[in-house]
Amino acid sequence: MKKKDFNRYTVTSALPYANGPLHIGHLAGCYIPSDIYVRYLRSNKKDVVYVCGSDEHGVAITIKAKKEGISPQEVVDRYHEMMKKSFLEFGISFDHYSRTSAKIHHETAAGFFKDLYDKGEFLEQNTEQYYDEEAGQFLADRYIEGTCPKCGNEGAYGDQCEKCGSSLSPTDLINPKSKLSGSVPVLKETKHWFLDLARYTDFLKNWILVEHEHDWKNNVLGQCRSWLEAGEGLQARSMTRDMDWGIPVPVEGAEGKVLYVWFDAPIGYISSTKEWAAEKGIDWEPYWKDEDTKLVHFIGKDNIVFHCIIFPAILKTHGGFVLPDNVPANEFLNLEGDKISTSRNWAVWLHEYLEEFPGKQDVLRYVLTANAPETKDNDFTWKDFQSRNNSELVAIYGNFVNRAVVLTHKFFGGKVPDLSQLEDIDKETLQLLKEFPEKIATSIERFRFREALSFVMDFARTGNKYLADTEPWKTIKEDQDRTGTILNIALNLASNLAIVAEPFLPFTSAKIFEMFNLNGLNWGNVGRADLLKPGDLLNPAALLFEKIEDHVVESQVNKLLESKKRNELANKEVSPMKDIISYDDFAKLDMRVVKVLTAEPLPKSKKLLRLTVDTGLGVKTVLSGVAEHFKPEELVGKQVTMLINLAPRKMMGIDSEGMILMAEDKDGSLRLLQPDKPTADGSMIS
Ligand code: 2FM
Ligand code: ZN
Repeated sequence: MKKKDFNRYTVTSALPYANGPLHIGHLAGCYIPSDIYVRYLRSNKKDVVYVCGSDEHGVAITIKAKKEGISPQEVVDRYHEMMKKSFLEFGISFDHYSRTSAKIHHETAAGFFKDLYDKGEFLEQNTEQYYDEEAGQFLADRYIEGTCPKCGNEGAYGDQCEKCGSSLSPTDLINPKSKLSGSVPVLKETKHWFLDLARYTDFLKNWILVEHEHDWKNNVLGQCRSWLEAGEGLQARSMTRDMDWGIPVPVEGAEGKVLYVWFDAPIGYISSTKEWAAEKGIDWEPYWKDEDTKLVHFIGKDNIVFHCIIFPAILKTHGGFVLPDNVPANEFLNLEGDKISTSRNWAVWLHEYLEEFPGKQDVLRYVLTANAPETKDNDFTWKDFQSRNNSELVAIYGNFVNRAVVLTHKFFGGKVPDLSQLEDIDKETLQLLKEFPEKIATSIERFRFREALSFVMDFARTGNKYLADTEPWKTIKEDQDRTGTILNIALNLASNLAIVAEPFLPFTSAKIFEMFNLNGLNWGNVGRADLLKPGDLLNPAALLFEKIEDHVVESQVNKLLESKKRNELANKEVSPMKDIISYDDFAKLDMRVVKVLTAEPLPKSKKLLRLTVDTGLGVKTVLSGVAEHFKPEELVGKQVTMLINLAPRKMMGIDSEGMILMAEDKDGSLRLLQPDKPTADGSMIS
């Protein structure tokens, strides 16, 4: 298809569920890529609006509320503010960040539903859905869990199996269980409004697989193809739910029902744009309705079907709206070889990162872009974070800019020196100064941000190499003019670098512009070798990046491992109860508080210690399998619990006359059972 000319850009990032703090997976998935793209567009003086907001409806919120024992409203209020703050702190430069509980959003989403309803677009169907009789509630989507029929994952949800990625409906699950009460749900009849997606198949096939065959990413086209070309074709999807949290369905006979969260959430992009425009006193409509608007949705791969199939079908049916020109979805980011998981606390949380790495937002932005999951799932490791910081940001980017500034201060009193006779190496470098920005721009426009960033880094490398090859610290001894020329070129390279790197490393570029006293530079200025002119004064060199030491990343890895351990322990099953015994059986056990008098290792045993204890009735010898858990001196003098009438057993030639009682923790470690206050030796336990 012929490339269209666009005069306006509407850029959206997936609305994150307001049910938890943000982590690096969020940033890498869609917020950093969209921010890079938008910063680039703004730098090119494009008319762009960049919107987002909190997704505050759906089961994700109500389940969290139930778990924390608070209301859904309290959940969304808490996390909306927290997410908004994190985005701001990481320089994600939304023009507007809204929330789907906003009045304007309720009105807009309900208006869409009503429009489709009035056009007769919905199939009104009575269906059987799972119902929790104990909780007295229908079980939508994630309220139900069971075994995935495709991969056997026992924790699959009613709408999706996160293990194999299959999209499911609750009745597909084997052994379904209610997440509310744990009971087995029953099927009960209820009325819902379905969007008959099959009717859009031809339109979607042509629009996605033909018109966008060459400009959409392969991972996105691949998923669309499997939806559109699957044997059974597109199925009708219910756009309503039996729930009391959400936007009430605005038609008669729908009391107690709300809009499906995936019906209302994407409309949130429109509501957010409306709010933004109202605040600015401008018209929102061109940003969604004019054909010369380029609409781009940045999302993660689990959102593809909603943005490429369902939302476009809704927009198309409503009419009057542009469709997305591109949906550059990323794959997933893993962490240290394991899937990021909020419930398992296997994540790097943005608010914690900022506490532990204050001022280092650009380092994380850099690493998450250099290693972005653009075409396949990728892994974030702290080792990689450290090495990209130390050997790329510090050793190349920071080193280049710092040397240019420091040498200018040292040799020319901080004044940009004159340019004199150019040598071949200068001309070649100035040629590269023109070429790099073009390459970077092309990659950004094709949504290849990793590639674009690698060109930014090559640009910095060029600067670093230029200084290493021309050695101004040596030429200064005999040729001041030559040294001036080199530094003039290096400083202009650095200014260009700061412009093209700004979408990726905005905090660093701001520091460079400040050092150079340059304001308001944009992409229109790149490629020029006179951004800094002879005589311009520089400010003192600012620290751009600093080395990250081994112990810092090691402690981050340990923090993760600790959290994994805690989580495994918390999830470990407690041993099942033994068979019931009679009181008479219990009464036969003679358990006492005893004092350990001596404890010594047995030379031939790794496990046993030989203890002598005062039972109040006399001294007994016991062999106890605690040598791997306690040192002898940790036991001597302590009161512990003992079964004193166990028949003696000979072990390693010694009679063991009873058993010290211990508790075994989930990880196999042993704990002594001690009275809470000193007690007479021989006190009975009953
Ligand atoms: O997957 C999610 O986190 C959803 N809250 C994304 C919604 S995107 C859009 F449609 F609003
Ligand atoms: Zn599965």
